[in-house]
Amino acid sequence: MTGSDGSTPLDIQMAGPWITEHEETLVLDALRHGWYGEGAYHYVETFEAEFASHHDRKYALMTPNCTTALHLVLAGLGIVEGDEVIAPECTWIGSVAGITYQRAATVFADIDPVHWCLTAETIAAAITPRTKAVIVVDLYGNMPDWDEIAELCASRGIAVIEDAAEALGSRYRGVRAGKFGVASVFSFHRTKTLTTGEGGMLLIDDGALFARCKLLRDHGRAPGTYLNTEVAFKYMPFNVQAALGLAQFRRIDELVGKKRWLWQGYRDRLGDISDLQFNPEPDNVHNGVWNTTLVFGETHGMTRDRAVSELAAMKLPARPFFYPLSSLPAYAGRAAQGRAEHPVAYDVSARGINLPCALNMTDRGLDAVAAGIRRLLGRA
Ligand SMILES: Cc1ncc(COP(=O)(O)O)c(C=O)c1O
Repeated sequence: MTGSDGSTPLDIQMAGPWITEHEETLVLDALRHGWYGEGAYHYVETFEAEFASHHDRKYALMTPNCTTALHLVLAGLGIVEGDEVIAPECTWIGSVAGITYQRAATVFADIDPVHWCLTAETIAAAITPRTKAVIVVDLYGNMPDWDEIAELCASRGIAVIEDAAEALGSRYRGVRAGKFGVASVFSFHRTKTLTTGEGGMLLIDDGALFARCKLLRDHGRAPGTYLNTEVAFKYMPFNVQAALGLAQFRRIDELVGKKRWLWQGYRDRLGDISDLQFNPEPDNVHNGVWNTTLVFGETHGMTRDRAVSELAAMKLPARPFFYPLSSLPAYAGRAAQGRAEHPVAYDVSARGINLPCALNMTDRGLDAVAAGIRRLLGRA
């Protein structure tokens, strides 16, 4: 379809994948050959092995999504009712749902005003004698100060789980996101940099934890046997999904490169406007920038909700920064305490939006969104 001036109309999407013939070839091969005997898990095992090795981890378990990967590792670590797990106020609910599945208590902690992740101080403020684990989220690809968090949690005997769902391609002091904590998880949801439609990965170094999670992933049975030693989960992946993941993974630099290009493109186009905060990249971090996020400085007097609705009126998509979880109906009754104890999360969330970052975005798309932000701020 072309416009009246002969140009192609703009199709600006929040998120979406970049699929090439390479993906089609591997998926077709899995469809044709990936069902019988040794071949039935060929792509799953190859994807797991290559993904683990790339992230310098010993073991990987592919799962139906990242939410189940997190649930699996919480169960594998033996988190049960009566235990507490610390997690950030601002993240997607999939980061924390597994805590409730295990009937443990979710304890929210405040985020940092610059990188929007947990800090050693905010974790320390949330620790009690019941704290068993902390889920640290690399929000929007940003990295927390991992050295300080690791030191604190090691000294207090608390297991760290890295939720790297949004951090494919990010690095902290040269170490890839996915290498922090006793285990890390990734999401391959349709909206992620690397996608399998739905999908997730759990990375682990400890052999005993891996064996436990592997058993729990398939109804509590050893592979190839029909002897269930306990009632567990059915969180198995399948070959076609993994073939898509493997093909995408082998293009990781291209996919992450495009996300960084979008981030740079927004910063270049809006760089002359002061008091705008984008995903940071301090000297010790390389940011995979799953999504370019924009937090309006207080001088703009702009709120998240006004920005999203005014951009929508301009036919430009944008999404709110993650709401503080304690403010959601799912955690009814916790908002007053959350707001009082986690002021940074409530403040940043109220001023932040996510910009469109689909992998099919073009220069024209970036121009249009940047022009919309300028109009919004009276800087057109
Ligand atoms: C930070 C974070 N954690 C967990 C999840 C859950 O991932 P999934 O949708 O694959 O279950 C998501 C994403 O959607 C996420 O962004």
